[in-house]
Amino acid sequence: MIRRPYLKREGKAGRPARPALFRSWRLLFTPQLVVSLVAALTALYGLWPRPVTEAPARIPVIADVTRSRLPLVVHPLPTRDGPDCALVACLALSFDDGPDAAVTPRLLDILDKYHAQATFFVLGNRVVRYPAIIQRMYREGFEIGNHSWDHADLTKLTAPQIAEEVSRTQDAVLAAGAPEPVAFRPPYGALNTTVRQSVPLALTLWNIDPKDWDAKTSQQIIDRVLANARPGRVVDFHDTHALTAEALDKLIPQLQQQGYQLVTVSQMFGLDPGDRGEFYGR
Ligand code: NI
Repeated sequence: MIRRPYLKREGKAGRPARPALFRSWRLLFTPQLVVSLVAALTALYGLWPRPVTEAPARIPVIADVTRSRLPLVVHPLPTRDGPDCALVACLALSFDDGPDAAVTPRLLDILDKYHAQATFFVLGNRVVRYPAIIQRMYREGFEIGNHSWDHADLTKLTAPQIAEEVSRTQDAVLAAGAPEPVAFRPPYGALNTTVRQSVPLALTLWNIDPKDWDAKTSQQIIDRVLANARPGRVVDFHDTHALTAEALDKLIPQLQQQGYQLVTVSQMFGLDPGDRGEFYGR
C-alpha cells in the first residue's frame, strides 16, 4: 500500500462531512491570526494598571548608581597632587578588602564630609560586582590600589599565578572606569622574593595596624590609631566592617585637630605609574 500523507487530512470515505461551523473555525485560526492575537493581548497586558510595589529599603548597588548622579564633594585630581609630606604632618589612611556594598559608600560619605583623602586597596572579584563604587572613588579623587583578585596568600603561588592575581585586578579597575592602580598591597602583608619580582607595582604596606577586624567597639579602633599616630605613617583599615566606618567618623576630626593632613599612599610616597619598591611609611 502506498502511503499518501497528503491525504491524511481528508475525512475517510463514508464519514459524514464536518459541520460547517468547525470548518469556519479552522479558517478563522490561521497561524498569522493567532500570532497577531497573542501580540495584541501582550500589548493590552502592558497597559493594564498594576499595583505599585514599594521599592525594597536597600538595594546597595542600585542605590550607589543613584547616588553617583548627585553632586558630590570632589577632591583635587589626580591623586598624585597633595601636600608635601616632607614639610607637613601627613597620615595615610588605607582601606583593604573592599569594595563592600554597605560600608564603602558610608566611608566615602564620611571622608567627603571631612575632605579627607584615602587609598582603597580593592579585590578584583569585588570590583566587578560594584563598579559604581569604583567610579565614585575615582570621580571623588580617592586612590584605588590593587589588593589581588581574591585575597590569595601570594607567597604560596607561582610567579605566573601572582602576575595573574595582579593583572586581573588591574583590568577590572580599568574596566570599571578608573585608571590602573599604581600601588599594590599584598594580602596579609605576605611577601617573598617571588612576590617582589612578580608584582610590577609599588608594594605599599603599613605601620599602624588598628586590627579593626578584631575590634569590639569603635572606640578601640580610635584608641589604637591615636596611640600610634606619627607623621608619615600608614594606617591599615578594612572597609568591610561597619565598626570601621563608625570609628572613622569620630577619628578623622580628631586627627585633623592634631594637625594631620590625611593623604593617599601615592601622595605620601610620591608614587608615579611604573614605580616599584617596598613602602611602609616615611
Ligand atoms: Ni586584606
